[in-house]
Amino acid sequence: MSSSGAGSPPSCAHRPSSSRSRAASCPPAEPISGSKPGTPRPRKVSAPSASSPGQGSPMANRSSLRVGVVGATGLVGRILLGILQERRFPVGELRPFSSGRGASAVLWRGRRIPCAAASLEALRACDLAFLVSSDEVSERFGPALAAAGVWTIDDSSAFRLHKDVPLVIPEVNAQALSPRRRLIAGPNCTLTGAAVVGAPLLRAGGLKAVRLASYQAVSGAGRAALEEYHAQARRAAAKAGRSGPLDIPPYPEPKVFPKPIALNLFPQVGSFDRNGDCSEEFKVREELRKIWGARALPISATTVRVPVVRCHSLALWIETRRPLGLPRVRALLRRAPGLKLWEGDYPTPASALETDEVHVGRVRRGALPKELSFWVVSDNLRKGAALNSVQIAELLLKKRWL
Ligand SMILES: NC(=O)c1ccc[n+]([C@@H]2O[C@H](COP(=O)([O-])OP(=O)(O)OC[C@H]3O[C@@H](n4cnc5c(N)ncnc54)[C@H](OP(=O)(O)O)[C@@H]3O)[C@@H](O)[C@H]2O)c1
Repeated sequence: MSSSGAGSPPSCAHRPSSSRSRAASCPPAEPISGSKPGTPRPRKVSAPSASSPGQGSPMANRSSLRVGVVGATGLVGRILLGILQERRFPVGELRPFSSGRGASAVLWRGRRIPCAAASLEALRACDLAFLVSSDEVSERFGPALAAAGVWTIDDSSAFRLHKDVPLVIPEVNAQALSPRRRLIAGPNCTLTGAAVVGAPLLRAGGLKAVRLASYQAVSGAGRAALEEYHAQARRAAAKAGRSGPLDIPPYPEPKVFPKPIALNLFPQVGSFDRNGDCSEEFKVREELRKIWGARALPISATTVRVPVVRCHSLALWIETRRPLGLPRVRALLRRAPGLKLWEGDYPTPASALETDEVHVGRVRRGALPKELSFWVVSDNLRKGAALNSVQIAELLLKKRWL
């Protein structure tokens, strides 16, 4: 995962993905020579069969899409399968893949489906592939699948900053999608809330500067990180306060995270660069700029891991170019898609859990003349990852590209 901890579970946030250096050039591990990461080569459309009629064709029977999910057994993968079912996404055949390191299966429409080890051959037969595994796995499959004509939605950070790969939050920049770019990235889960809150302000007042501090849940770093947190929390709970209210048990040695996370927090998500920024802070800045189309926007971020299981929170300050009064700001937020404005109370990870919206509360003026201050919470596994990917796929269907 990270040089900041042993082991390497795939994660959106903790891993200092090599993508920081790779993002600029993004050499895919299995490139198809001469192809750009997101661009398809003309696809051979096989004769319709009972299992996949019209595969690859814009006229595909929408009730029979063959959908691959790489990383189906992970935290995001499991939520994604649930969302596909909840939203009645037209899956004709589900192909779930895992690492293949042990026997695994997922529940799909009440049936247990075994997971195969991911292979390009099996994935190529899909109409749509969700990559919810790791940067390395996405690098291996993403460009090759897109070049073969498979719509590929990638939740890793491998290609988010690549110029040929749209980085999309449907409520914010659906226009970035193109029928020619079949590899599409979903953003880092930490910045999703800021992107959705900032979008209507960007349109109404322009953005001058953004500052944020994150309070990031443990599940943002994947299954192994979550297991480490639970083991530490159980131990801490068993021992805490035994000899007095201020008695804190010794902090256990971490393996996944750089520091103990139970009864603790730390201002490091990923690894540090020369300037002292950690990789999550780099991702927040660069991905927000790309999504908002605001290349030089000054963005300061400090990202903090906190002992919360699920849902990322942000203290967010947005300075606009033109003044926006608070009533106008509230009106903009109230009608912005994908947002829930809290008035009179504020959201927390507990209240945002398993919800689809980005929650925003404590809307007030900041210290600078055109600065606004917000408290933002969103479910990192839903809107921060799985739901966003499914919403992208729904848009592809709506446009009849899939
Ligand atoms: N967690 C979040 O909040 C979040 C948010 C946004 C984006 N993301 C991104 O989503 C992806 C998944 O994150 P996660 O938190 O779900 O991770 P996770 O819980 O650690 O799950 C990883 C999944 O990848 C599978 N996998 C590992 N190696 C593989 C291989 N060689 N081939 C195929 N599958 C392999 C694992 O299968 P086994 O069961 O066999 O190990 C598991 O299903 C990452 O790219 C992450 O950056 C995560």
